[in-house]
Amino acid sequence: MACSPNTATFMSCFLFIMLFLHSGTVSSQLSSPSLYLTTCPNVYSIVHAVVNSAVKNESRMGASLLRLFFHDCFVNGCDASILLDDTTNFTGEKNAGANANSVRGYEVIDTIKTQVEEACEGKVSCADILALAARDAVVALGGPGWPVNLGRRDSTAANFSGANSDLPSPSFNLSDLITSFKNKGFTTKEMVALSGSHTIGQARCLTFRGRLYTDNDINGTFAAALTSSCPSSGGDNNLSPLDTTTPTAFDNAYFKNLQVQKGLLHSDQQLFSGGSTDSQVTSYASNYALFRADFAGAMIKMGNLSPLTGSSGQIRANCRVLN
Ligand code: HEM
Ligand SMILES: *[C@@H]1O[C@H](CO)[C@@H](O)[C@H](O)[C@H]1NC(C)=O
Ligand SMILES: *[C@@H]1O[C@H](CO)[C@@H](O)[C@H](O)[C@H]1NC(C)=O
Ligand SMILES: *[C@@H]1O[C@H](CO)[C@@H](O)[C@H](O)[C@H]1NC(C)=O
Ligand SMILES: *[C@@H]1O[C@H](CO)[C@@H](O)[C@H](O)[C@H]1NC(C)=O
Ligand SMILES: *[C@@H]1O[C@H](CO)[C@@H](O)[C@H](O)[C@H]1NC(C)=O
Repeated sequence: MACSPNTATFMSCFLFIMLFLHSGTVSSQLSSPSLYLTTCPNVYSIVHAVVNSAVKNESRMGASLLRLFFHDCFVNGCDASILLDDTTNFTGEKNAGANANSVRGYEVIDTIKTQVEEACEGKVSCADILALAARDAVVALGGPGWPVNLGRRDSTAANFSGANSDLPSPSFNLSDLITSFKNKGFTTKEMVALSGSHTIGQARCLTFRGRLYTDNDINGTFAAALTSSCPSSGGDNNLSPLDTTTPTAFDNAYFKNLQVQKGLLHSDQQLFSGGSTDSQVTSYASNYALFRADFAGAMIKMGNLSPLTGSSGQIRANCRVLN
């Protein structure tokens, strides 16, 4: 629609803008990626530099930062609630089942936050820093980028029971996975694309032991190679790559592995186990560009999960504690 000063088009343009503003207020939308260009222009380069240096030092950190963002957004939205430390009178999310001894990258976020506060005090939320860091982490490992809408504010509470109930488990079957993501507004297709995150990073033996010793849809050679580091008892914390072929590259090898029954987690292999998602796994295994595009789109959607905006929440000075 052209907004010319001609009266008829001006009126319809005005109505269009009013509708747009109205829908914006009811659903508390984020602002554009350029939000901080005037108030904190350096935030973009600070996040980029700290993430790149952390990933250069240890490539797994790219995976850890992506997962940190996912585990924040799936519990009460992308509000940095996962970053709050437990204290004697505050129960955070860090010790929930899916997070304890597992989620990492908190120190990288602290380093970014310290530098951002030095550059422009009190302007950028921890939730926005996490959203930018997850995107830059994926790019650092060769994955797609996407525009990160901004303007999230930080929670003043955490949800321990929500973290225990809403994050998917590696023992989930396909219908559990579909339901878990549907509960957060994602389609089955988006769930499969997002699961492609497991093209990077590592998992502890205790998360895939059942797959080695009880699943029958696992490649025998693959299973045998894993048994020394993941015996039927003991070695719970021993790590194995989620993508056995290219563990530190964000590519589509995860989907190719599923085709030959080399998914590490039971939940991974469920995506290619004779069910409704097999065809999408096949598409992504043969078309990396398609996976990149769908993944980026689903990550934008992830970043829009129930943000706190306007005067809700706060901009924490330290991501680990309330102001
Ligand atoms: C589909 C349901 C999912 C399940 C059941 C699941 C489960 C898991 C488990 C059990 C681990 C290993 C944790 C450990 O042993 O400490 C893991 C790691 C990981 N997950 Fe997921 N996940 C799912 C979806 C996702 C999504 C949607 C993302 C991101 C958008 C993601 C990103 C990651 C990454 C990057 C790692 C490796 C982290 C690291 O090495 O530090 N996962 N996931
Ligand atoms: C580099 O990575 C190692 C783990 O590989 C970690 O112990 C160390 O703290 C990291 N150093 C920096 C500066 O991030
Ligand atoms: C926890 O206790 C400390 C010290 O007594 C107090 O300053 C703080 O406000 C309390 N925090 C919460 C979340 O109640
Ligand atoms: C915590 O998460 C659960 C599960 O999503 C939700 O039902 C509950 O309302 C949340 N509690 C708070 C206080 O936000
Ligand atoms: C998936 O697992 C749930 C329990 O988590 C169970 O109720 C359901 O029957 C299972 N579905 C299939 C198709 O196996
Ligand atoms: C299992 O993996 C091995 C080694 O990569 C491969 O040679 C074999 O064909 C695979 N077996 C099946 C049944 O896919």
